[in-house]
Amino acid sequence: MIDGADALQHVDRLQTEAIAAIESARTSAELERARVTFLGRKSRLTDILRSVPTLAVDQRAAVGQRANDAKRVVEARLAERQRTLAAIPVRPTMDLTLPGSAIPIGRLHPITQTIETIRSLFVTMGFEIADGPEVEFEYYNFDALNIPREHPSRESFDTFFVEGPSPEPKKGRLVLRSHTSPVQIRVMEQRQPPLAVIVPGKVYRPDPLDPSHSFMFHQVEGLFVDGRTSFADLKGVLDHFLKALFGEQTRTRFRPHFFPFTEPSAEVDIACAACEGAGCSTCGRKGWLEIMGCGMVHPNVFKAVGYDPKRVQGFAFGMGVERIAMLQHGIVDIRLFFENDLRFLAQF
Ligand code: PHE
Repeated sequence: MIDGADALQHVDRLQTEAIAAIESARTSAELERARVTFLGRKSRLTDILRSVPTLAVDQRAAVGQRANDAKRVVEARLAERQRTLAAIPVRPTMDLTLPGSAIPIGRLHPITQTIETIRSLFVTMGFEIADGPEVEFEYYNFDALNIPREHPSRESFDTFFVEGPSPEPKKGRLVLRSHTSPVQIRVMEQRQPPLAVIVPGKVYRPDPLDPSHSFMFHQVEGLFVDGRTSFADLKGVLDHFLKALFGEQTRTRFRPHFFPFTEPSAEVDIACAACEGAGCSTCGRKGWLEIMGCGMVHPNVFKAVGYDPKRVQGFAFGMGVERIAMLQHGIVDIRLFFENDLRFLAQF
């Protein structure tokens, strides 16, 4: 038979243990375990309550009351601890000591980078940036540039024609511009000299893809017009530009050429850096690399935009961006620029 005094002490101890377990529980699961241990059907407190009828008659009331008190105290503490735990936000477990995962950082396409370089060199010399549409009227792409309809040179600017009727038949059919020169006309139609502009942009020619041809590529056009500019100014500007781009030691050569919209016209070569002019595979044994076309603006071009050729003079030039980027980086296949292969693009 259980002794009543022992039972009372036992209840005190159980209450103390239960409160300690409840206060140290850090999750609802730990708290539930404490509840089962101290108040569950198989707990010692429940045992004691069940044993009350077996106690001596004069001890039953005291033990029964004490055990019920303990039960209420423990239940109250449980409820309180449950509220406290519920108020703590659940956080995903993460290990702040682990190294972070790197976010790959993008960069400008190599062609964009070369355009930026060219652009900033000309901006430093006082040129402004202009642009025009890639879908262009024949008038701007050819006629106004002194390339008349039946002129054989028109074929050398092989062109994509846009199907369907022209929105402005007087300006001819729509084409994908085959060079950036039409923007010369658009700028001069809008403005009066003096002017100095460069025009970076895309151009299109129906060439089959090969290591040096693409049906879309980029050009930078230049146009300078004032009352007294000369071929010497043209040479000075382009010589300075090419030395700034390819290095101070770069030698340049102006070779007579023909363009319908300039007279005189020239192609500009730089001495091949790979062989220093001796002739190698990079320059096709010529020792020189063709880099751009240029010339003094043809009087017929000035007439087309309503300028008086007796009062204004100008020079123009145009260069292929891909070709320049290929020389800068030693790239031998133009198609690499347009394949979106990150193994290539991430190198620049
Ligand atoms: N538009 C010419 C071409 O695409 C380049 C050029 C521009 C030549 C301006 C002279 C003056 O080949």
